[in-house]
Amino acid sequence: MSATCSLDSPEVARVLGRLHSEAGSQKAAFLPVALDWGLDFVLRRKPSVEEEARRFKHLFIPLSPEAGRFAYLVARSLAARRIVEFGTSFGVSTLYLAAAIKDNGGGIVIGSEIEPGKVVRARVNLDEAGLGEYVDIREGDARETLADPGGPVDMALLDGWKDLYLPIFEMLAPKLRAGAVVLGDNMKTFPKALAPYAARVRQGGFQSVTLPLGAGTEYSVKLEG
Ligand SMILES: C[S@@+](CC[C@H](N)C(=O)[O-])C[C@H]1O[C@@H](n2cnc3c(N)ncnc32)[C@H](O)[C@@H]1O
Repeated sequence: MSATCSLDSPEVARVLGRLHSEAGSQKAAFLPVALDWGLDFVLRRKPSVEEEARRFKHLFIPLSPEAGRFAYLVARSLAARRIVEFGTSFGVSTLYLAAAIKDNGGGIVIGSEIEPGKVVRARVNLDEAGLGEYVDIREGDARETLADPGGPVDMALLDGWKDLYLPIFEMLAPKLRAGAVVLGDNMKTFPKALAPYAARVRQGGFQSVTLPLGAGTEYSVKLEG
């Protein structure tokens, strides 16, 4: 374990600063997506996972800097060596998690992203920050790509499409070690869609609390292995 925090190293801080700033300038780019959602509603249509990802192919929708730093700290306190991430996008959250893995002495962040262009950009961003060796970003649907994390999981971050938190959680639950933490982003943004997930992580071997951090962070602990 290192006493330093890689988030504050010049190369990581520079990449994170640039990505958060690019993401912050994208507000107007959400308009076409909002129009598509309006059309879905009128036509009573549900887009496929791939179709929805295509609409967001240029959009970051990243963890906030404080939620990212919190994820880093959780990973440090768990001494995490294997972290699974649902929804990598351009790799902002992955950078926070990979910095923790590096500072913990090594290991892997297994990312997942269905939009191929985002996978390429995420890898470039991780390499630029000097953290490429700590990530395995798997391209495709996380319901398949995260099925085998390759060993006991210390921590998971859920940040993909909201209706998939529950199935992804159920898939990962048996692979989490006792004391593992699962963070779920956007609990405040999508309270209705995430209500079944919030209910699930409060029973069946887990306990959970919603933290007023970023867009609402669900902090869930697996009580036994
Ligand atoms: C909110 S963004 C993730 C942001 C990222 N965690 C960050 O902090 O930068 C959600 C991402 O999940 C991806 N996604 C959604 N459903 C997915 C699935 N079933 N498998 C893999 N990726 C998926 C989307 O393409 C999108 O890029």
